[in-house]
Order: sequence, then C-alpha cells, then structure tokens
Amino acid sequence: MAGERLAQELTDLADEKVDHRFKALPPDAAGRTVGELAAERRNLFTDGFTTPVLALSAASVEHNLALLETYTARHGLAFAPHGKTSMAPQLFARQLAHGAWGITAAVPHQARVYRDFGIQRIFLANEVVDAAALHWLAGELAADPDFRFICYVDSVRGIELMDAALRAAEATRPVDVVIELGAGEGARTGARTEVECRELADAIAGVDTLRLVGVAGYEGEVPDADEERVTAWLRRLVALAADLDACGRFADLDEIVVSAGGSAWFDTVAEVFADLPELSAPILKLLRSGAYVSHDDGHYRHLTPFNRVPDEGALQPAFRLWAQVVSRPTPEQAFLNAGKRDAAYDLDLPRAQTVRSGRDGTLRPAAGITVTGLSDQHAWLRTEHAGDLEVGDWVALGLSHPCTSFDKWQLIPLVEEDGTVVDFIRTFF
Ligand SMILES: Cc1ncc(COP(=O)(O)O)c(C=O)c1O
Repeated sequence: MAGERLAQELTDLADEKVDHRFKALPPDAAGRTVGELAAERRNLFTDGFTTPVLALSAASVEHNLALLETYTARHGLAFAPHGKTSMAPQLFARQLAHGAWGITAAVPHQARVYRDFGIQRIFLANEVVDAAALHWLAGELAADPDFRFICYVDSVRGIELMDAALRAAEATRPVDVVIELGAGEGARTGARTEVECRELADAIAGVDTLRLVGVAGYEGEVPDADEERVTAWLRRLVALAADLDACGRFADLDEIVVSAGGSAWFDTVAEVFADLPELSAPILKLLRSGAYVSHDDGHYRHLTPFNRVPDEGALQPAFRLWAQVVSRPTPEQAFLNAGKRDAAYDLDLPRAQTVRSGRDGTLRPAAGITVTGLSDQHAWLRTEHAGDLEVGDWVALGLSHPCTSFDKWQLIPLVEEDGTVVDFIRTFF
C-alpha cells in the first residue's frame, strides 16, 4: 500500500541523526535522532537553538492545509499541490491526508524524491525530454501499475524525443500527457495557439508511447496578469479542452484532465472551471497551488485570492526567521547574522516584525526597524531610534516567497505559539 510506504519513509526520517548538516539545531543535541529531539519539546528561544533559525508555525501550517482542503472541496476542484515549494515529504503526507489527489512536480528529480517516498500520483508541470529521466519513468510505470503520472507536452520535437526515449527504454505503459497552452504572447512555456495544440494532439496520436489525457497551463505566467487577462486565458484553456474532446481526442478515457492554478488566482480558476461544459468523460479539474502551505509576509500576502474573497477564509504566514543582532556600529545601523543564505530575497526583502530582548526575552514590535539589504550572511537594518535594538537581541523576520525560503533549510523546526518545537520538517532540494 502506497500510504503505508509513505508512513514508513516518514518514520525513517525521524531516525535520521541530528548533526552539523542542519543549521541552527542545538549543538548539544548532536547524535540524537530527529525523533528524539522532537520528543524533548525544546523551546526555540531558550533550549540551545542557534541563530539564525527558521521556524514554521505548526498552527498556521495546519490552518493553511485545512483551508485549501475546504476551498477545493467547496469548488469541486481536485488538488495536486505543487511540491517544489517545500520539497518536504512530511508536508506532502499532510496535504494528501487533507484530500489532495497527488503532488505536482516541476522536474524529474522532484518526481524521484516523491517516488522514493511512495507518492502514487504525480503531475509534472513541464515537458520531460530527458532520455535518462524517461528511462527511469518507464521503469517506475512498469513496476507499479497503480502509479499515475502525467506531464506536459508543448512541442512536436518534444513528442519525438519522448517517444524515442520511451521506445529505447522498452516502456510497457504509455506516458499520460496533457497539452500545455501557453499563457499568452510573451508567457513562459506552452504552445502559443490552438492550431499548434491540435497539431500536438495529432503528433501524440501518432505514437504508442504517449496518451493524451487533457490540457493544462499556468495562469501565473499570464503577462501583466489581472483578473480580466487571467479569465480570458482560462476561458481559452477550457475551450481548448472542449474542442479537443469534440474532435474525439479524448476517446476511451476514464477522465479528462484540465489543470491550472497556483496560489495567486485560484478563485478565478475555480470560477472558470465551474463553467466547463460536460465532456465525453468526467473531468479532473486539477488545481496546483503550492505556496499556500506556508503562505508569506510579502508577495503572496499581497496576491492571495482571499483578498478578493475574504468570506472564504484567509491564509496565515507560517515562517519566522529569527536572527540575532551581532553589530550596532552606528545609532542608525544594525546588522543581523542572517543573509541571503537564510532568507528569501528574490521577490522582496524580509521585514522585521518582532524583537525579542537579548536581556530578558520580552517581545516587542519591531517598530522603526527596516531591512534595507542582505549580504550573504548579514541583514542590514536601519533603525529610527538609537535605543531600538542592541547587540544580542533577536529579531523575527517575515519572508516573501515560500519557495525560496524552504530551499535554504534542510530541517525546519515546527513551533507552537509559545516557542515549543514539536517536530522538524525535512526538505529535499
Ligand atoms: C506550472 C506551475 N504550476 C503551479 C505553480 C504553483 O504556484 P504557486 O507557487 O503560486 O503556488 C507554479 C509555481 O511556480 C508553476 O510554475
């Protein structure tokens, strides 16, 4: 049973030894297993963790998992959360327990991680033309009849390469593919026109190694995205599904896949997918949001669809990066010991939120404290008042962009409100 395999793999993760590979863990815990350390329920602030330390709020993660489960169920959407965000099998297991259909990947390496943890349904939102990866995939499909894998195609050349590699690998099952419709002129991947999509359907029909099961794309790449442009592109995607179905391209399928949706426009996806006409088979309307799991204090806080539909709930930012003031060279300047190695910086700089006194542990809002830059290992702070901070204080930073926050940490403490560390989330980037 796949679920049992995943559970076993997660148990094995808890047996991993704590050591220098994992930033910020208490030096005196070296040699314990992760499970043993979690069972000690140490306090993040007082029980030996070193700064900088990234913490994930246990309550906020649970809230976000439950909210998207409710949201997708309410809107009749299946859910394959994008796993590249966290690359954390413990979170995948919880996403699946919260009703997810499967997990989305971007590249074959991620699919390999998922398979090694027993994930049974993988949607790879990219064209796979790497012969070695296709060889591996053919083996996985042959070895496990219950393994469901779907990936994109967006070019005839890609189809040729996939077919050649799968034939060379003596694939025993065809690989399920969806045609990717590009999100408009100037967008990222994806065929630009419906005519090209029909040509791709012809090319897929001409090979035995691939099976066309639907259409997909990513509205997050619509150039100058706004509600009108995103809706227009989603309507094109839905019309493409209907058109290919009317041409008999989805004959003999148990279900037809129509997939879109990151964390910025799932309300619009839900709205347009609700209008999908009946097709010749039931439709798997597959949403792929990933960033929702931790949410953030910047990019996604600004973009979340819940700003438009507040009565449907609100995500909670789950990350806090705690760093320590190591230098206060002038009344206006302070430096923390966390930098680009520790914090996401590709979309926005971190924001100072809370100060924890280095003297007595009291908390206060980080009023008047601004992050103005990041070096590799330092955050540059500007302070309005000389007394705002002193060397030794801890500062909590809110981050912008979940994907580039998770990937800087291999073992992330999961903390309760009072700082009790209840578990550790292992990532595989
Ligand atoms: C193709 C694709 N699907 C889904 C997602 C998930 O979107 P988000 O990170 O906004 O949750 C991404 C993110 O980059 C993506 O590239």
